[in-house]
Amino acid sequence: MPVRQLPEAIVNRIAAGEVVERPASVIKELVENALDAGATRIDVATEGGGRRLMRVSDNGCGMPQGDLELAVERHATSKLDGEDLLEIRTLGFRGEALPSIGAVARLKITTRHAGAAHAMTIAVDGGAKSTVKPAALGQGTVVEVRDLFFATPARLKFLKSDRSETEAVREIVRRLAMSRPDVAFSLANEERSPVTWAAALPGAPGRLARLGDVMGPEFRANAVEFYAEREGVSVAGFAGLPTFTRANSLGQYPFVNDRPVRDKLLVGAVRAAYADYLPRDRHPVLAVFMSVGSREVDVNVHPAKSEVRFRDPGLVRALLVHALKEALARDGARAATTGGTATIAAFRAGYGGRAGNFDWRRSPARPIALAGNAALGLDAPDVVRLVSLAEELVRYGLLIEGFGPGAVIVRETPAPLGNVNAMALVRDLAEHVAEWDEALPLERRLMHVAATMACHGSVRAGRRLQPAEMNALLREMERTPNSGQCNHGRPTYVELKLADIERLFARR
Ligand SMILES: Nc1ncnc2c1ncn2[C@@H]1O[C@H](COP(=O)(O)OP(=O)(O)OP(=O)(O)O)[C@@H](O)[C@H]1O
Ligand SMILES: [Mg+2]
Repeated sequence: MPVRQLPEAIVNRIAAGEVVERPASVIKELVENALDAGATRIDVATEGGGRRLMRVSDNGCGMPQGDLELAVERHATSKLDGEDLLEIRTLGFRGEALPSIGAVARLKITTRHAGAAHAMTIAVDGGAKSTVKPAALGQGTVVEVRDLFFATPARLKFLKSDRSETEAVREIVRRLAMSRPDVAFSLANEERSPVTWAAALPGAPGRLARLGDVMGPEFRANAVEFYAEREGVSVAGFAGLPTFTRANSLGQYPFVNDRPVRDKLLVGAVRAAYADYLPRDRHPVLAVFMSVGSREVDVNVHPAKSEVRFRDPGLVRALLVHALKEALARDGARAATTGGTATIAAFRAGYGGRAGNFDWRRSPARPIALAGNAALGLDAPDVVRLVSLAEELVRYGLLIEGFGPGAVIVRETPAPLGNVNAMALVRDLAEHVAEWDEALPLERRLMHVAATMACHGSVRAGRRLQPAEMNALLREMERTPNSGQCNHGRPTYVELKLADIERLFARR
């Protein structure tokens, strides 16, 4: 074939291949645009995992008519004023996102520039651009994307279930919301109830408040603040205590100059900082905000702008390790008392007769009544998932076989577990397997299996112990490294000070 210039529509679709991988990548681009436009409130909604509809509304600066027409063209951006690709202070800089989205979906942008008499709207359908028309909108910009990949149906096949795509969207919005506590966010879809994160105060308290909103109040209660600065580079953030960990590094959120990134450097530095506190298979949860001069970091190294390259990675790494180690040494001993505080809070709510959520029937001392309901109530997909793991499970001494659509037969259980409730074990495993991230490497999956089994071999709530057994258990805990937490990262004991006990009995 002779060499020829490709038609523009094809060029755009090829470019879209890099920018738009799945609904979450569209949401990322649109929310980044809203942030670059100075929005203080951003609302995100999706339908059908984003495949059917994605809508991002902002109250930012909007666009005048001429900009709106240009914005959907390739290489058209308001964000690079000179020719210096190292002076980037905005999330966007390529002028690629909107034309790429318009090339593979039905894109509609409605926008009102401050001071304009009314709003304007433009549509791009699989690359075909409409004229600009007047529209109604009070302020800011609303971008709607329908029928993603209708123009490139082959790419639809690479999408996962609506639920997985919705989760990926949620993860992107979570990251962007963590990066900017000063901006209010809301997220709505069919899978979960809508969430709203109110704008928080500037500075560390606001940042922690937003992290608590997004990562959960548990993180907030179990995080220590860290900070270090050297040669114009600073690292700041909140790191989970060593008892607050996960089985993978997905709970680690790095940001560089307010841009959410993925970063191997961070994972390595975190591992080094926590080395004395954690077994290798546990990963801390943390959010790291790195701030460097724009010339010290290259953000133009990844098609989705989600990786960066530091000019001096050694400095950033050393700074981070130092900051984390210092914070852990300062605050590390707090681990077990967090549980104690929660315990006391639970007792207090019951004791004071207030409407607290302490419920004795749910307290840890309730015997687990699983043995009664036999006949293995597994879903057909659970069974399929478990049976597909059968070969791996045998390595651990658990021999199962599929037995019709909703049942498995347990032929053998691992000897070290002794007289274990096979049904509860299998059901627990099924639950874990269902929650696994599709991208989890096999090794990690097996760690989960081993952890679940170990857990079933342990002394469980409701079992009566003889004093001799209790003493032996405590002596073993003293000898066992990292016995302060179980293999799910939960503390194995909580510390109640005498004063706490006195308080429980209204003596203080
Ligand atoms: N929500 C918005 N509010 C105001 N202006 C916007 C908005 N979204 C896009 N724009 C304008 O449209 C232009 C093109 O947006 P687009 O996302 O395609 O490129 P970019 O943000 O400049 O670079 P990148 O491709 O890296 O995202 C932007 O430079 C901006 O001027
Ligand atoms: Mg952009």
